[in-house]
Amino acid sequence: MEPNPQQSQHQPRKIILDCDPGHDDAVALLLAHGNPDIELLAVTTVVGNQTLEKVTRNALAVGTIAGITGVPFAAGCPRPLVRSIETAPDIHGESGMDGPALPESTIELDPRHAVDLIIDTVMAHEPGTVTLVPTAGLTNIALAARKEPRIVERVKEVVLMGGGYHVGNWSAVAEFNIIIDPEAAHIVFNEKWPVVMVGLDLTHQALATPDVVAKIAAIGTTPAKFVTELMDFFAHTYKDAQGFDYPPVHDPCAVAYVIDPSIVSTRKVPVNIELQGTLTLGMTVADFRAPAPADCHTSVAVDLDHARFWDLVTDALVRIGEPGTGDHKDNGTASDVEPGRSAHLTAGGVK
Ligand code: BDR
Ligand code: CA
Repeated sequence: MEPNPQQSQHQPRKIILDCDPGHDDAVALLLAHGNPDIELLAVTTVVGNQTLEKVTRNALAVGTIAGITGVPFAAGCPRPLVRSIETAPDIHGESGMDGPALPESTIELDPRHAVDLIIDTVMAHEPGTVTLVPTAGLTNIALAARKEPRIVERVKEVVLMGGGYHVGNWSAVAEFNIIIDPEAAHIVFNEKWPVVMVGLDLTHQALATPDVVAKIAAIGTTPAKFVTELMDFFAHTYKDAQGFDYPPVHDPCAVAYVIDPSIVSTRKVPVNIELQGTLTLGMTVADFRAPAPADCHTSVAVDLDHARFWDLVTDALVRIGEPGTGDHKDNGTASDVEPGRSAHLTAGGVK
């Protein structure tokens, strides 16, 4: 979505979203599209929550629901670098995004491999201006760094959803996005670009509580209804598979950090990936023996401002409006978004 100069106090942040939709990836994409401080340069997909074919279909469906135009979507790696494919049907269903009915896509897939689209996009922009936001296994990002090493110093930072310094979800100590391709994660965490790990310690605070879902439902548009249907399915699987009262909506936390880092507190700490352990494969080992060395290039997300995070998501959905009807809020003034509200919703969100 085009930024609105009246509402943005700074240049929009250019991002590439590398994802595996995925209920929470879908929310991440909607947030990135609907927020005026983000310029979405490309959407790339990678095997993860489901097969590459399924997650790519899902990404295109979300793009269609959101009315995204002019943004290239490309499919990437169909399997991890070394390991066999591991998907997450217990959490995301057989389609990878079970729950809502998905439309036929009106978006044509870019013919390039995702790895090439990532490289082309980073190299085409000024150094230090493009942020990579991976919300899936790190296969595409690792291969891009290997295929074109110059992207490592050109990328502004890598803000990824994955890992956790105290908790795992796919093993006692490893998180899904890391453990499905730990060798790729090892590459990404060991390149010298700034890496912000938005892990489970943070994303388990991003619960879609009933008040949040009610506010989204009150928006009343097709994309908002789509999100409530995603959350309904997600709530059931997270309850059944992992015992959560409300589902943690991981992936948009990484986008929210790029939009407004004050919503997510972070701590600089060396992080590396366990590749040998029989019980600890894919663990993101964070060394908290302070202080972090001067050349430390990794940090971990610690605390989330829950209200402001969900305000960003609801605000993005309000701005997206009803695609195809001309009811877009992207060029509106703050008062077009809703009378009496500021451009970014205050805590409490949509009333
Ligand atoms: C991560 O794994 C996937 O299932 C989600 O989409 C998220 O990116 C959470 O562990
Ligand atoms: Ca994901």
